[in-house]
Parts: sequence; C-alpha cells; structure tokens
Amino acid sequence: MRAVTAPEPGGPDALVVSEHPDPTAGPGEVVIDVVASAVNRADTLQRQGFYPPPQGASDVLGLECSGRVSDVGAGVEGFAVGDEVCALLAGGGYAEKVAVPAGQVMPVPSGVDLVTAAALPEVACTVWSNVFMVAHLRPEETLLVHGGAGGIGNVAIQLAKAYGARVLTTAGTAEKRAFCEQLGADRAIDYHEEDFVAVAKEQGGVDVILDNMGGKYLDRNVSALATEGRLVVIGMQGGSKAELDLGKLLSKRGAVIATSLRARPTEEKAAICAAVVEHVWPLVSEGKVRTTVHDTVPLDEVSRAHELMGSGAHTGKIVLSIGS
Ligand SMILES: NC(=O)c1ccc[n+]([C@@H]2O[C@H](COP(=O)([O-])OP(=O)(O)OC[C@H]3O[C@@H](n4cnc5c(N)ncnc54)[C@H](OP(=O)(O)O)[C@@H]3O)[C@@H](O)[C@H]2O)c1
Repeated sequence: MRAVTAPEPGGPDALVVSEHPDPTAGPGEVVIDVVASAVNRADTLQRQGFYPPPQGASDVLGLECSGRVSDVGAGVEGFAVGDEVCALLAGGGYAEKVAVPAGQVMPVPSGVDLVTAAALPEVACTVWSNVFMVAHLRPEETLLVHGGAGGIGNVAIQLAKAYGARVLTTAGTAEKRAFCEQLGADRAIDYHEEDFVAVAKEQGGVDVILDNMGGKYLDRNVSALATEGRLVVIGMQGGSKAELDLGKLLSKRGAVIATSLRARPTEEKAAICAAVVEHVWPLVSEGKVRTTVHDTVPLDEVSRAHELMGSGAHTGKIVLSIGS
C-alpha cells in the first residue's frame, strides 16, 4: 500500500509517499480500505519532529480516516467486510489501508458522504471529550472557543450551540469571524485588535474555555473565567510555559485542565467514540452540526495540504482523498 511518512523532520516537502506492507487485522482490530483522511495541526508538528507517535503506533501520519472495512480480526463484533465507517486513529490515516482497534471505528453518520466523513472523528472526539466529558459544559453556560474558524473550533461552536450554550469565539480575519457567526457563535472576537478578556467580562466571565494557545493565553484565559470556570488547554500554539496566578484561580474556584486525545489508552478512546456516536452523530445526521471542508487534496499532493495548513489560510478542515 502507499502511505505517507516524514523520515526526516522538516517542512511540507519532508513528507514522502512510499510503499509499505499492507496491515492485517490483529485480535480486536479491523482493517479499513481508506477513502479519505484529514489533516490535523498535530500532523504538521509530527512532520517537524515535535510530536512523535505514541509507543506502538504507526509512523505513518494521519489521526482519522473514512473508508470501507476490508478485514475483521478475532473477537470483533458489530463490523463486517464492506461496512462504510470512519475512525479515530493514533496514526496511520495517510495510507491506503489502516488497522485500527474496533472501539475507535464508528459508523458514518447518515446523510454524510464518505469523503467528508474523514474530517469528523478527530474534531468530534476532541470537542466532545473536552467540552462535555471533561469541562461538563451545561446549557445556558458560556463557552469561549479560541480559533473558531479552525477544524476543531468550527465544530466546537456548533456543538455548544446545539446543546444550548452561549458561544464566544476568537478568529483572525473578518471573513473567519463572519463564518463563525454563521455557524452560530454569539460573538466572534478579533484576536488581533480586541481584548477577549474584556468581551468575556462584559458577559460576566465565561464558564468554559477551549484553548489552542497554551502558555501565551494562560493568564488572560484565567482572567476571562467566571466563578467555577473551567479552562481546557488542548493546544500549545502559543508555547507550553507561562506563569499561573493561583490566587486568581483560587478566588474563582476555577480549574485548569490540559489533555491530549492521541495518548489516551485504547479503552478511553473507545468510550469517547461511543459517546460521540450517541451524542454527536444524531446532530450531524439532522444537519445541526456539520464539518466544513476547506479543500480536498489528493494523497500525492500531501505536501500542498500541509503548506495550506501552515499558511493558516484555511477555514475548517483540509481533507486528503486516497481511495475510491
Ligand atoms: N489535545 C488534543 O487532544 C488535541 C486534539 C486535536 C487538536 N488539538 C489542537 O487544537 C488546535 C486546533 O487544531 P486544528 O486541527 O483545528 O488546527 P487549525 O484548523 O489549523 O486551527 C488552528 C486555529 O488556531 C487559531 N489561532 C491562531 N493564532 C491564534 C491566536 N493568537 N488566538 C486565537 N486563535 C488563534 C487559528 O485562527 P485563525 O485561522 O482565525 O487565524 C485557527 O482557527 C491545535 O492547537 C491542535 O494541536 C489538540
């Protein structure tokens, strides 16, 4: 099979499409003939050598895919050869075939085509696990989503709105802010020109923050929290280190949590996937939550897909088309 690795860390040109042995389905696994995968910011970090795959995971890039089941391992129930599925992966999605634990394989939500389905697992699992399972966002509460026009951000806005929350978000251009408001955000904040803390305070503070910036925003995020607010850090685009004023956090009885989906044990990922199928897929099928595909790029042009993500010009997800 053809698959993409980054044998030497570097820019988008470091990505190499080459032949690899076909995977087989071990006990508890299924093999998927991949139709599409999608690019995540973590893939660009892996390419640069900053985000190695967890122990035992494939060195082929790709954290999600869609396709058809082509082999089912011992002990797997609920999947058969030919089923159309999508999957959350620890790696291996930028390939013609991938073996994946059955608990991370999900049906394609009805009404979603197989290519678009590749752009759903990572964002749906990240947003559901962090905003709802970890931070317990409740209806009527306010969520601040940083980077609302990004792959993660655009789904976070829609899911929070679908569950009756108020949503503030940040974005870098007028077009992206308009996009966020079309998705339902109550207020899209210009992160270059406006102070999101001031906007949050106008609302009495925010109950939950989904943060992609890490160190750079830590102090301001804590300032933006309401009493008993929860800050969930999922990205370190603004660095991993900062000073935390515990007094400020303590006076709000606030929480700062940081999580990584990729490194979670298989059983936890399976529980998250099951929750996503139960709580998110119905909203996707009803059209209340959709993933926005900015561009679909053939596997052979994977470097162009990474260049696009690096440029920040995209809105929503970048999909890689791999099979038919
Ligand atoms: N921990 C986990 O398990 C996990 C899982 C998945 C993703 N992530 C993280 O989630 C983040 C988003 O991933 P993605 O795949 O959605 O990437 P993406 O589509 O490239 O989105 C990146 C976002 O960052 C925003 N951004 C850049 N500078 C900003 C600033 N100063 N203030 C606020 N926002 C800013 C961009 O906004 P503009 O486009 O408007 O400039 C864009 O929306 C990444 O940091 C990724 O590593 C973490």
